[in-house]
Amino acid sequence: MSGGGSDSGKARRVLVLNGPNLGRLGKREPGVYGTATHADLEALCVKTGSELGLDVEVRQTEYEGELVTWIHQACDDQTPVVLNAGALTHYSYALSDAVKMRTAPLVEVHLSNIAAREGFRHESVLTGVATGIIAGFGFTSYVLALQAIAASPDTPSAS
Ligand code: DQA
Repeated sequence: MSGGGSDSGKARRVLVLNGPNLGRLGKREPGVYGTATHADLEALCVKTGSELGLDVEVRQTEYEGELVTWIHQACDDQTPVVLNAGALTHYSYALSDAVKMRTAPLVEVHLSNIAAREGFRHESVLTGVATGIIAGFGFTSYVLALQAIAASPDTPSAS
């Protein structure tokens, strides 16, 4: 079942995982990323999730290995993921290999439109192994990603 939780009536769990420097939202390049904070983003994701029948947990880390470990847990638990890997998006083959093992939908998100920025941001090593990508809509990128997950089947290897 999608949108309203699982057959047991329990809300479907979703992880929102944010990588390096995203904890600095509000202070970091406000012209690019806006003035709202990571706490504001977390509140929006949890609220959006509850409206969609999703039990959303938001995490942020500066460490590649921690992100890889969280992806492994999501793979083992068949948990859908919204992933903003920050700059790791552009070069982390370790993260790419982890995402390749996903067992549930995984949506790559970016606040900014990475294709319209510096050349090194144009490549993502995640897009080819993710279910899809949403970029360029600020915090709304996360709302759209959660909507996409709510609308997707929760069969184990659903993409
Ligand atoms: C970002 C884009 C990346 O290029 C950058 O390194 C980030 C944030 C975004 O959300 O727009 O840290 O992922």
